[in-house]
Amino acid sequence: MRSRIRYPIAYADWSAREYGAIARCVLTGRVHDGPAPALLAQRLQAMYAPSQVHLLNYAHHGIEMALGMFARQCPARREVIVPAYICPSVPQAVLAAGLQARYVDVGDDLNLSLEAVRLSIGPDTLAVIAPHMYGCPAPIELIEAICGEAGIFLIDDAAQVVGVRVSGRLLGTFGDVGVISFAQSKAVVTGIRGSGGVLLVNRAQWAAEAATLCATLPPATGRLGALADFLWSYVGQAYTGHSGYYIDRVLKLLNVRQRSHGGATRISNMEAAVALVQMARLELMLQKRCHIVQAYSDALQSHTDLVFPQYAEGRYLARVMLQLPPGVDLAKTRSALRDLGVETRVGYAVPISAQGHASHASVLAERLLGMPTGSSWTKSDVASICAALQQVIVCS
Ligand SMILES: Cc1ncc(COP(=O)(O)O)c(C=O)c1O
Repeated sequence: MRSRIRYPIAYADWSAREYGAIARCVLTGRVHDGPAPALLAQRLQAMYAPSQVHLLNYAHHGIEMALGMFARQCPARREVIVPAYICPSVPQAVLAAGLQARYVDVGDDLNLSLEAVRLSIGPDTLAVIAPHMYGCPAPIELIEAICGEAGIFLIDDAAQVVGVRVSGRLLGTFGDVGVISFAQSKAVVTGIRGSGGVLLVNRAQWAAEAATLCATLPPATGRLGALADFLWSYVGQAYTGHSGYYIDRVLKLLNVRQRSHGGATRISNMEAAVALVQMARLELMLQKRCHIVQAYSDALQSHTDLVFPQYAEGRYLARVMLQLPPGVDLAKTRSALRDLGVETRVGYAVPISAQGHASHASVLAERLLGMPTGSSWTKSDVASICAALQQVIVCS
């Protein structure tokens, strides 16, 4: 029997108001259709103007749509520059658009290395996808300038961050288009598996085509199953274990079939309603996260062999990813921490095809440990977590 998890990973920061919004949608039969998407679009439009806001079920469908538009304009160019350290749905979106991902290396902050981008641009390059990994801002102004000089398109991938500015401009509004995701572990969370995303159209040249593409999206379906899965697997996961088996059984008993959420759809009313609540709490959520990030940095002052590569004073981060010292076994560390009541997670795996020419990303990815970040935790909670980690490392 494993010990109780005292410090679980928080996949969402939800208050009673998010649950209230869900209950209202379910009780009024407005899970899929209703007024919330239009209200959310208005809210985001006011924030991101002059960029044009379109709501979808997934951010990566926004990337796929944008790449489709770029490729129709420049059909001879087939390569898209993508960081080697990346959420797998991004290169999948490149493939789905019929294009090829060209992986380039990242710096210590897990964002695209400017030098690697410069060296990778060639006659086949169509676009660059520049994420702000875990909310840590990439050098997006410089990337925008490089893309402008080279005459290639830029997707400002702000999937993991909402409301953070660089030089007065919101992340997501640089380049041709931007995207935001509302899936678990992002700044604004509405659930999992197609719970929401935003396509930001930043240049007028794409406005009409993007509006036409988004206007023809089908409505969302099957969102109650995804919500049940989210609540069980992610919110209650530390207590319930992983849901897959139980959720399947419960849904079968209730005669609710889990449908595929693969294709692009509109956002559901229920998930837009949750996003509206999250947007109303955004400032507070960002602040609380900044305090936890700061608490980790403070606690790590006395653990000099642990590196927090994305930290900067006052910076919001969607996740706290620490770099373990060389030679420390990641899996054993995680298991020992779990026995001490601390849940952790790993980073993204670097795609095999990227490993040859993205050596820094490969080295970093193998040593990254994702730490838990409860919004109500105190500095002393974080200090206990870091002390547990140090104890495990010393013993390994
Ligand atoms: C940097 C980045 N871009 C894009 C995505 C895709 O978001 P979605 O799951 O909403 O398609 C993710 C998801 O984790 C991400 O981390």
